[in-house]
Amino acid sequence: MQLHQTSKGLRPHRDVVSFVRRGERLSTEQQEAWDALAEQYVLDPPRAHRDTLPAAGETLDVPALFGRTAPLVVEVGSGQGENLVAAALAHPERDFLGVEVYAPGLAQTLVRLQEAAGQDGADLPQNLRMLPLDAQRALPQMLPSASIDELWVYFADPWPKQRHHKRRLINPPFLDAVLPLLREGAAFRLATDWAQYAHHMRIQLDARPELELLFPQGPRPDGDSTDAVPETMAMTGWAPRFAGRVKTGFEAKGRRAGRLIWDLAYTRVAEPGTDDGTAGEGSA
Ligand SMILES: C[S@@+](CC[C@H](N)C(=O)[O-])C[C@H]1O[C@@H](n2cnc3c(N)ncnc32)[C@H](O)[C@@H]1O
Repeated sequence: MQLHQTSKGLRPHRDVVSFVRRGERLSTEQQEAWDALAEQYVLDPPRAHRDTLPAAGETLDVPALFGRTAPLVVEVGSGQGENLVAAALAHPERDFLGVEVYAPGLAQTLVRLQEAAGQDGADLPQNLRMLPLDAQRALPQMLPSASIDELWVYFADPWPKQRHHKRRLINPPFLDAVLPLLREGAAFRLATDWAQYAHHMRIQLDARPELELLFPQGPRPDGDSTDAVPETMAMTGWAPRFAGRVKTGFEAKGRRAGRLIWDLAYTRVAEPGTDDGTAGEGSA
């Protein structure tokens, strides 16, 4: 751990993280759902010096976790679980891992599961788990390379102030951490209601040789936005709304404020220069 000098002496250096944790209290309903279901759904690996970091060497055995081998969908920042729960119920043939640091969000996901399962809990899905850790630090340690079939990041915190841009999730450190985990051909789906962040995402994601746009000719969302759309915003390359993406509270809030919704979809390709890419092509 790095130390740095403050007015109170030497303190551990705080990494730049994409989240703030405040107001972690659970409502009565959330606490009841937590008590009933957290053991089944919320993973609790040993932690390092912070409770959002896994202890050194901790890994996830995904087939053991779900008791089978099935396509794995990971949602980073699953929030209140709207997408995670809807998708797990609609697609029993796939396994879903939500990664979320906000305890009330995890608890609300459990409330949602209880509501979907009915009184006797007979319909509780078996294909969903949640990891209460910082995705950027935990996933590259805990998951093997090429183990994710689909990655979702919906309505990530926009961090609109210039001095906070380094906290945005869609930045090189996160991409360096998660792109190797995507299987070749995996989809990476994103959405945001902030035009400035959509622009930032395009710059970051289009620059990655491991990613290709799934809809290179896809038009920009139609209409005016109440937030400033950058002049250099790409005219094409936008995805249609993914059929499985349900409307979350964050999307609803953005729409109420008059902002457009920007959807993006990429696919993981072999990196040029790697064994499974085009290395050596054209050479003697
Ligand atoms: C604005 S909310 C969006 C939630 C949800 N995707 C939606 O559409 O409603 C962003 C969420 O990402 C979570 N988050 C941000 N950075 C994270 C990280 N590095 N690891 C795990 N969760 C993170 C936050 O705690 C927050 O719940």
